[in-house]
Amino acid sequence: MDQIKIVGGNRLVGNIPISGAKNAALPLMIASLLTDDRLTLKNVPNLADVNLLSRILRNHGVDLAVDGKRPGVTHLGETFHLTARDIVDTTAPYEMVSRMRASFWVLGPLLARMGQARVSLPGGCAIGTRPVDLHLDGLRALGAEIDIDAGYVIAKAPKGLRGGRVLFPKVSVGATHNVLLAATLAKGETVIENAAREPEVGDVAACLVKMGCQIDGIGTSTLHVQGCNRLEGAVHTVLPDRIETGTFAYAVAATGGDVTLEHTRIDLLEKALEVLDNVGATVTPTNTGIRIVRNGDGINPVTIETQPFPGFPTDLQAQLMALVTTARGTSVIRETIFENRFMHVQELARLGADIRLHGDTATIKGMPELQGAPVMATDLRASVSLVIAGLVAKGETTINRVYHLDRGFERLEEKLTRCGANIVRVGAG
Ligand code: EPZ
Repeated sequence: MDQIKIVGGNRLVGNIPISGAKNAALPLMIASLLTDDRLTLKNVPNLADVNLLSRILRNHGVDLAVDGKRPGVTHLGETFHLTARDIVDTTAPYEMVSRMRASFWVLGPLLARMGQARVSLPGGCAIGTRPVDLHLDGLRALGAEIDIDAGYVIAKAPKGLRGGRVLFPKVSVGATHNVLLAATLAKGETVIENAAREPEVGDVAACLVKMGCQIDGIGTSTLHVQGCNRLEGAVHTVLPDRIETGTFAYAVAATGGDVTLEHTRIDLLEKALEVLDNVGATVTPTNTGIRIVRNGDGINPVTIETQPFPGFPTDLQAQLMALVTTARGTSVIRETIFENRFMHVQELARLGADIRLHGDTATIKGMPELQGAPVMATDLRASVSLVIAGLVAKGETTINRVYHLDRGFERLEEKLTRCGANIVRVGAG
């Protein structure tokens, strides 16, 4: 199993190209199930999760072709052509869905197009229990009959789905995707209230509009979706990855560096960048992206809680914690989205961080420095927080179980190395 070895202490200086957003690419790929026409997606990141979803979609009958890369042309994501002319299988099996939660989102589109779907429950996950009740209640509001049998959701709508009113009692990105995708082929209008406003939901909605669906309220918490008989093919470019952007921004601030993050946008992560400003870094928009600089003064402590968009994202909580482990004072971070998203705490402690946990709140006393040590990646965002800590720690940090990183960060070591980081991947044998 591969390991990542980092010798900390180098400032990050240079440019980093930001990839397409994993959490938009996945539901966009799933949207291909809604039409027998070709859906072309540009700027798709080359990630383990994307490759796994490709296999799942092929299993349903989606024909997937990836454009070849031309030598000498800057790599800016891949172009996927997805055509679901015939859905050959409406079952998404346990072996696949259990490995990636987002694959559960095939439920809505399969049900809407085929009138039936059998999708394995995704099960628990390292960061919390993560139930699917909101997905199922939302689809029931569109007329679906749903049973659970032997770990599978069996959903039926023999006469097709019909538009309805869905009021989510809690904001859920995944349930919003599932119901939005299904509503495009339902009869009549669906109103989704308390919908997730994450930019990835807006990106999927924008693609569905290109496919011929009328959707009002994109970017707000109330979506009006006019269902139609048939969707068409479209060409869509995946929006930049705001979590990757925030992660590198925090890494630059942690090392006291100066880096321009290319092909990304400030409006995707205003709250996360505002926090960076409070920490003591300078954030400046450029023609092509965002420049992050921190030099001279130390890191200020912060008090923050995670919230659905436009609040501070849970997917950057671990990275922010790594950043403030060396702040001049005590920071307080409260996690309100997932009940068990603090597994990075004990690993950061191995590097010398002083962090106390009380329920959903972590109190981080800034230390003058961290010391490199062997650590273990536990989930995607937790593992990249260890990379940030390793970049500032004195001496060598070895990160084990780096396959978690490959699920969501494209060419991480390469992007950091070109800015001066001492980071290598080694096979552990
Ligand atoms: C999406 O997960 C993201 N995944 C997560 O990113 C992200 O952390 C999360 O949204 C929150 O922003 C993808 O986009 C692929 P939720 P999702 O449904 O949709 C509860 C990463 O690192 N809930 O918005 O699964 C749930 O338990 C990943 O890239 C219910 O109670 O998250 C949680 O407490 C990790 N019932 C809260 O809602 C439900 O039916 C928000 O979860 C569904 C969710």
